[in-house]
Amino acid sequence: MATHFYRASTLDGFIATLDHSLEWLFAHDFDLEGPMAYPAFIEGVGALVMGASTYEWLLRNEQTWGYTQPTWVLTHRELPVPEGADVRFAQGKVQDLHEAITASAGERDVWVVGGGDLAGQFAEAGLLDEFWVQFAPVMLGEGRPLLPRRLDLELIDTVRNRDFVCARYRVRPTAERPEAA
Ligand SMILES: NC(=O)c1ccc[n+]([C@@H]2O[C@H](COP(=O)([O-])OP(=O)(O)OC[C@H]3O[C@@H](n4cnc5c(N)ncnc54)[C@H](OP(=O)(O)O)[C@@H]3O)[C@@H](O)[C@H]2O)c1
Repeated sequence: MATHFYRASTLDGFIATLDHSLEWLFAHDFDLEGPMAYPAFIEGVGALVMGASTYEWLLRNEQTWGYTQPTWVLTHRELPVPEGADVRFAQGKVQDLHEAITASAGERDVWVVGGGDLAGQFAEAGLLDEFWVQFAPVMLGEGRPLLPRRLDLELIDTVRNRDFVCARYRVRPTAERPEAA
């Protein structure tokens, strides 16, 4: 049971345009049956956690709610819930919420869906185990950042999936970082 960030990114480190568009992502070819693809990843996921912008993007763009797992949405606002969805709103420090989130995942993993700052909150609290990124062959120059914080990683695996370079990293605990020695 672990906590992972799994996300597509531009080569220059953005997960969405400033106005939350993912058009750049869907313009590129990715094999859903291929390596490091989403269907295999989601099978191991018992709970999702996401920020309000990512949740609102899903509400705007998905025809039907795609998750059977509990989905924790961090927000300070009141947001709608699709019919039949197990959406749990929360706010505050991720270290105070992590126990309830992992308990809701049962024996499976927690997926930190995004955005980047939320993944950074988990990483900074020492609660992120792995970081999976699919890099699209595109630069945006500006946008919503992949992870706008200092984070040291150990490369575990890389693979090509059609247009994407996919990388999987282990998050190095603070104690392993050079400046912490
Ligand atoms: N590249 C991909 O594969 C991919 C896939 C899906 C979506 N996306 C996009 O990525 C973008 C991410 O947006 P974003 O960078 O704005 O990040 P986000 O994490 O989705 O949303 C940020 C918001 O979440 C709330 N929040 C975060 N941490 C919180 C906490 N600890 N307690 C309470 N509320 C908290 C705050 O909302 P409030 O205070 O306003 O409530 C904050 O403004 C979106 O455009 C999304 O559509 C990318």
